[in-house]
Amino acid sequence: MFGEFGYDARFHCTFFAITEIEQKGCRIMYIYREESYEKMSRRAANIISAQVIQKPDSVLGLATGSSPLGIYRQLIEWYNKGDIDFKDVTTVNLDEYCGLPANHDQSYRYFMDTNFFNHINIDKFRTYVPNGMCEDADRECADYDNLIAKLGGIDLQLLGIGFNGHIGFNEPSDHFDIKTRRVKLSESTMKANSRFFPNGGMPTHALTMGFKSILSAKKILLIAGPEKYDIVKKAFTGPVTPQVPASILQLHDNVTVVYTGNQSF
Ligand code: F6R
Repeated sequence: MFGEFGYDARFHCTFFAITEIEQKGCRIMYIYREESYEKMSRRAANIISAQVIQKPDSVLGLATGSSPLGIYRQLIEWYNKGDIDFKDVTTVNLDEYCGLPANHDQSYRYFMDTNFFNHINIDKFRTYVPNGMCEDADRECADYDNLIAKLGGIDLQLLGIGFNGHIGFNEPSDHFDIKTRRVKLSESTMKANSRFFPNGGMPTHALTMGFKSILSAKKILLIAGPEKYDIVKKAFTGPVTPQVPASILQLHDNVTVVYTGNQSF
């Protein structure tokens, strides 16, 4: 799948030129390795910032978790300096735990409000997070996919990656699920995320954006810390398989990966 591999001095990055011979298409995937979490966050924030400056009414797909915190801090700093304006931006988040109300300090709505939205000039009515308290999950999820379609798709989707290769809460499976839906969290995810629930009560289910909406994004930006090196390498240099959900990103034609660590691919 990988046609060429090299180092592009103009961008100070390792790049893969991926040639899909069967589809007669050519895809470029930029993979940036940064020395530190701060530098990873800054580069990713720069990419988001460029998107918003070029298209002030961008639809940003956003993620929660430890990985994007530095990006949100950086964007808030640039907002405070007057360098970026979120007034016309719309956001759609990837996922939400089932059973946690918006004001629960571990809900993803609370995470987004406290770590980002409360500190910038975004219109809160245009920040969407699936409702984990909904009574009808099928309806909530179908509405969420329709909303994204109505918005014209996502301009830039920010993604973290789970130790098992999940993106959003699309866990390893025997097939790729297209739709946004209610999912049972895998053992690996429960173990990784229970650190945020020291007193117990880690939800077992979540609502997650499906692959159709994720892949509808015009650009994908995936970030990963050093502890994710092995799974990132597997996802982007191994076979495309639902057992490694992030591997499907190899089929997208505009992906940027920013990771930290000592090792190159
Ligand atoms: C969160 C999400 C998840 C996380 C992933 C990595 O909205 O969609 O896929 O991105 O679990 O989490 P961290 O960054 O905490 O390692």
